[in-house]
Amino acid sequence: MTSALVGVRRHLLSIADLKRDELIELLALADSFAEVVDRPIPKVPTLRGRTVATLFFEASTRTRLSFETAAKRLSADTMSFSVSGSSMAKGESLRDTVETLDAMGIDVMVVRHHSAGAPHQVARWVRAAVVNAGDGQHEHPTQALLDCFTLREVLAERAGGRPPEDLCGLKVAIVGDVRHSRVARSDVLALSALGAEVHLVAPATLMPCSLEGWPIVGAGAELDALVGEMDAIYLLRLQLERMSAGLLPSLREYATRFGLSTERAMRMKEGAVVLHPGPMNRGVEIDAAVASSERARVTRQVRNGVAVRMAVLFHLLEPAGGAPAPLEGLADRAER
Ligand code: NCD
Repeated sequence: MTSALVGVRRHLLSIADLKRDELIELLALADSFAEVVDRPIPKVPTLRGRTVATLFFEASTRTRLSFETAAKRLSADTMSFSVSGSSMAKGESLRDTVETLDAMGIDVMVVRHHSAGAPHQVARWVRAAVVNAGDGQHEHPTQALLDCFTLREVLAERAGGRPPEDLCGLKVAIVGDVRHSRVARSDVLALSALGAEVHLVAPATLMPCSLEGWPIVGAGAELDALVGEMDAIYLLRLQLERMSAGLLPSLREYATRFGLSTERAMRMKEGAVVLHPGPMNRGVEIDAAVASSERARVTRQVRNGVAVRMAVLFHLLEPAGGAPAPLEGLADRAER
């Protein structure tokens, strides 16, 4: 396989930095790692001797554990940094903190920060490769990759074969707090680059002030008009921690107009699926019964997140020219 990524990318900071071919390549690589994750012993020696550190300056359950699991499945050493209990509590700056970690010989820093652009700044200061694990309201590239991977899987199920290269023909509605969502920004870029038709649904107060340059097919406030047309409905959590007062009349009204109720879910197309990045607010953006129904792919997204992050770590660390062809290459490595 010729690799457009290996030896070119040092960091994964934004979906906007990836071309369509590079997205396709990463997803194909993740197919190989999904096969590893399904093995009785889901581990390969690929990144033995390398160190992956997670630096989370903001709360997280699944993203942090997913990166740590991905690193361990590749036999990398892992380090986990938390602000509380660190010298940041004594006033140490972000720059001094990341330079200290870098001096220990970290290969990859996975950074989540409440400020947009923080991982980009870290990337300028350190020798390690940097992965953006969510920066403020800006981007969350690995979430978008795992969402695309999950939707490819849905297309494969429908066709009864292997996953297609891209998402051409798939209609996706992203519903909810688009304005404050880094997931929405990264997902819109990745989904549209892969050929999906993306619609945004949100109350006017939770839609970005300008949608100029967003590669979407439509945007509006009418979920009912779209619910029966979509192949996937992607629900966003209300980012209450980022919201100023007065953007929503009440949670109840929001749930009535924009929540995926059981009644709305029943009007979805046959085979259409529901995605959510988590954490879910059951009863607000999604009914508890819908979240636990056949349509919901939320736990599948979490599972796929490990394989996708293995692909990302592999891509950032494998020496130029060393990328294996998916499946064959990995099978060889595992047997050695
Ligand atoms: C998202 C995040 O942190 O941006 N969660 C995640 O990473 N799975 C979405 C959210 O918090 O709403």
